Amino acid sequence: MASTKLLLADLASTVKQVPSNYIRPISDRPNPSDVQVSDVSIPLIDLQDLYGPYRSDILKQIALACQDDGFFQVKNHGISEAMINKMLSLAREFFQLPESERLQNYSDDPFKANRLSTSFNVKTEKFANWRDFLRLHCYPLEDHIHEWPSNPPSFREDVAEYCNCVRGLALRLLEAISESLGLKRDHIDKIISKYGQHMVLNYYPPCPEPELTYGLPGHTDPNLITILLQDDVPGLQVLRNGKWIAVNPIPNTFIVNIGDQMQVVSDDRYKSVLHRAVVNCNKERISIPTFYCPSPDALIGPATELIDDGHPAVYQSFTYDEYYEKFWKKGLATECCLDMFKTSIA
Ligand code: OGA
Ligand code: NI
Repeated sequence: MASTKLLLADLASTVKQVPSNYIRPISDRPNPSDVQVSDVSIPLIDLQDLYGPYRSDILKQIALACQDDGFFQVKNHGISEAMINKMLSLAREFFQLPESERLQNYSDDPFKANRLSTSFNVKTEKFANWRDFLRLHCYPLEDHIHEWPSNPPSFREDVAEYCNCVRGLALRLLEAISESLGLKRDHIDKIISKYGQHMVLNYYPPCPEPELTYGLPGHTDPNLITILLQDDVPGLQVLRNGKWIAVNPIPNTFIVNIGDQMQVVSDDRYKSVLHRAVVNCNKERISIPTFYCPSPDALIGPATELIDDGHPAVYQSFTYDEYYEKFWKKGLATECCLDMFKTSIA
């Protein structure tokens, strides 16, 4: 069944079955019986005392979470509940705009920085994913904000404020992660030079047959770290000890995960872990990841302080540009690009 709709939101509400291009092979479906729904989740870390006498305790918790899970949640992170709620409701409002209004932002060109699109990469992918997304570049703001949607009317101003706050949190986390590896506080800041900051507003419409498709299939994030805000509808799953676990939303927390570049800098001490988003038949879901990236020309490699006879370098150095190109060529697939950059000892 071919659809004439560009965006999934405008198709999803009219179908009783998932169109064939969204249907995954049986071996590649989100089988609910494979998912652990017990009380195990990823660690929840309280950042309240990050700059107090208990900093070293918090750094230890961060180190453990990055080694074992590649994921953790944070509370008392310094971003207000009002701002979180405003961001989520703005995203919801945006995706509820009339089709013609939303389509003004549409593009299927993956090299366009600020755009509304659907699935992952409609030009090259074999299976479609059950999501629409608005991708925004957020740093430096003045280079991009004029390309952002101007509806809802407060969108640019409110999202810009959110971006600034999340940037502060990202920098605090990167310092903490550096220190938790035994590196200087500004180590990551120095190698990465100028950061890139991208944000995605993900919109997962209700799906008539959620067991046949994904919102996003299993993948690792190509960047340094990701800071994800989600609404109160479950959908994120993280691979842990070979099992998928559901990360159920906790209000006013963010989910932080290690991306591929951080795995390289840490020389495999910290893990960039597979995760995915599943959909459900009742409720739309919003998630808003902020991706922290090195600048395209930044040279990425294992920190020399972490290399010795017992820990040879697992990766050769490369620029983020080289990596990102490989990531887009590959598409969203479970194998990650890191293997292509391994040294011969690895
Ligand atoms: C992503 C991602 C998960 C989610 O956008 O990279 O992993 O819950 N999203 O939407
Ligand atoms: Ni991701």
